[in-house]
Amino acid sequence: MRLDVVSIFPDYLRVLELSLIGRAATDGLLDLHVHDLRDWTRDRHRTVDDTPIGGGAGMVMKPDVWGAALDDVLAAPLPAAPAPGNVKDAPAPPPGARPAEPRRVLVIPTPSGDLFTQRTAEDLAGAAQLVFACGRYEGIDARVAEYYAAHGVEVREASIGDYVLNGGEAAALVMIEAIARLRPGVLGNPDSIVEESHTGAGLLEYPVYTRPVAWRGRDLSTEQPVLLSGDHARIARHRRDQAITRTAVRRPDLVAGIDTALLDAGDRVALARNGWVAPAGGSHPVPLVIRPAREPDLDALADLAARTFPDACPSFLTADQVAAHIAANLSPQRLATWLEDPRVVLTVAELPDGLPALTCDGAAAEPLPRGALVGYSAVLAELPDADGALPVGLDPRPRAVTVPDDADGAGLAVELSKVYVDARLRGSGIAAVLLAEAICDADTLGATVLWLGTNDANRRAQKAYRRVGFRRAGTRTYDVGGQQCRDVVMVVDPRGSQQA
Ligand code: ADE
Repeated sequence: MRLDVVSIFPDYLRVLELSLIGRAATDGLLDLHVHDLRDWTRDRHRTVDDTPIGGGAGMVMKPDVWGAALDDVLAAPLPAAPAPGNVKDAPAPPPGARPAEPRRVLVIPTPSGDLFTQRTAEDLAGAAQLVFACGRYEGIDARVAEYYAAHGVEVREASIGDYVLNGGEAAALVMIEAIARLRPGVLGNPDSIVEESHTGAGLLEYPVYTRPVAWRGRDLSTEQPVLLSGDHARIARHRRDQAITRTAVRRPDLVAGIDTALLDAGDRVALARNGWVAPAGGSHPVPLVIRPAREPDLDALADLAARTFPDACPSFLTADQVAAHIAANLSPQRLATWLEDPRVVLTVAELPDGLPALTCDGAAAEPLPRGALVGYSAVLAELPDADGALPVGLDPRPRAVTVPDDADGAGLAVELSKVYVDARLRGSGIAAVLLAEAICDADTLGATVLWLGTNDANRRAQKAYRRVGFRRAGTRTYDVGGQQCRDVVMVVDPRGSQQA
């Protein structure tokens, strides 16, 4: 790759002689040329600027001087070796094809340009020649960029961020470093490109640590023991989760741009934990809020409950049996009772911005409106009220569930009565987050055991419960609209989950 930088301060670019970029130039990997713009002036004072036509503050760089300089530099001979089409393996040209013209790009650093990103760097790393035209003062006469663009030169007006520098030199240095390090052979260890921020799915890099393991009160062997486990798959998962959390906290704009096709199931759970949901078939994540249910939710919640309950039913149940169960157990009145009962925690998953229309399993799916409820959970404590009554809707505790005592000798069983997610958002990680919340809620209620019953045939649900720590304790018989069903009973000890 040939790199040309034109500036009125060529010495500013001397730093390019240092470090990896300098070594790449010495080794012949980069053909670096720095030019003094004033060499193309023709007057005694070597004038490069003039006052703005139309008035205003500052000075504007002259198009005639820049034109003379860029005509020369853009016509410079290029290194003999054929430039690869891309940093990644370029496809072989078809047999008999004429060699393509080498790609020359004129880059004009300017705060009013398109934002320079890692994608820009990756793209420009495939060019045969990059010419950086570094303006000063109020910038370069706008006709210069327009002229070269109109005459077949690829022109990129690029900004390195929303702030104003005194000239394009510092910006050019930033861009050159970002681009040059992507060229083959420039970096000592090419693996470091693969994992770093802004590559792949567009996540920020996870935090990194080195020895000593314990430093100033921060002990990684207790804070993040997985890093010392030697289990590479778990370490990779942990780091990826950290990268997702960090990106969600620092750069929500990047999360909103993630291509969901690049995410695995673990990524989706990590995103959901951080307030984003990546629906299957959707192109980008959308915001997700997990919050306590409120009175205005009741109708939508009853709707969601009626929509999701049939999904979890075995196929031998009739529509009437399912409908009877819904009418008796999932009515707005029942949900309203739960809202008012302090022994019940009712949680909803809401999409504050809704969901755009998308294709789900190959079928078109309607958009969801702002504030759509897409999941919920209900946790019911087995605590009698002043009259000795248990919460309405609490199922009889199965014999398989044992209730350990707490330190005061008083155990408490809590039922995870419901966890349902809209079928369209299955696999999005919402269920895992609702489950983790439910376990914390049970802990807050003082539970020593959290139990649930789920249909024997519903293996998908059982797997999801196992993943968050539930284990099978036995079975129970469960009535759905007069039909007896066999349920698996699962339990988890919720104590201490809030510190996890
Ligand atoms: N010149 C002055 N400010 C700049 C910026 N933010 N990016 C690129 N070039 C500039």
